[in-house]
Amino acid sequence: MTKMSVPSLFSLKVNGRNVVVEADPKAPLLYILRNDLALNGPKYGCGLGECGACCILIDGRAVRSCMIPIAAIAKREITTLEGLGDEEHLHPVQQAFIEESGAQCGYCLNGMIISAVALLDRNPDPQETDIREALRHNLCRCGTHIEILAAVRKAVVLSKAASSASAHSVVPETQA
Ligand code: FES
Repeated sequence: MTKMSVPSLFSLKVNGRNVVVEADPKAPLLYILRNDLALNGPKYGCGLGECGACCILIDGRAVRSCMIPIAAIAKREITTLEGLGDEEHLHPVQQAFIEESGAQCGYCLNGMIISAVALLDRNPDPQETDIREALRHNLCRCGTHIEILAAVRKAVVLSKAASSASAHSVVPETQA
């Protein structure tokens, strides 16, 4: 059993919001997000860094929050599933997973979506092998892999359309 340390205060930036939490420095970030901040997008699956259900973005990279002690993430930008979009403005990856029914029980969905967002942020035009590689360590026990892959392919299309729409909506300064 892990020995508890004296609780300390930690300042975090989560989904664009500055928060302060009091916690054991060794407490996994996953516990803080779920129990202290009521952010239940990241899920507890294995607690061992193997399933990917707890994925979040730290500075844009998909990481497993069950493996990161809160003391290790000072001054980093944390984004959870809740920070990607809202019901009126879904992130293109969220929209694509809905359109392609990329879930069965849904437990792995957080990790799949977060990993796909990280992939598209670093490579907006991924090939099939890039998609498979990016999701390789996210486990789905329902066997929904075909739909999940289709969802990420759809997300590529929706993301490109969203980028192109926002580029066209920029009014040149001389016309403003
Ligand atoms: Fe973190 Fe499984 S719960 S990888």
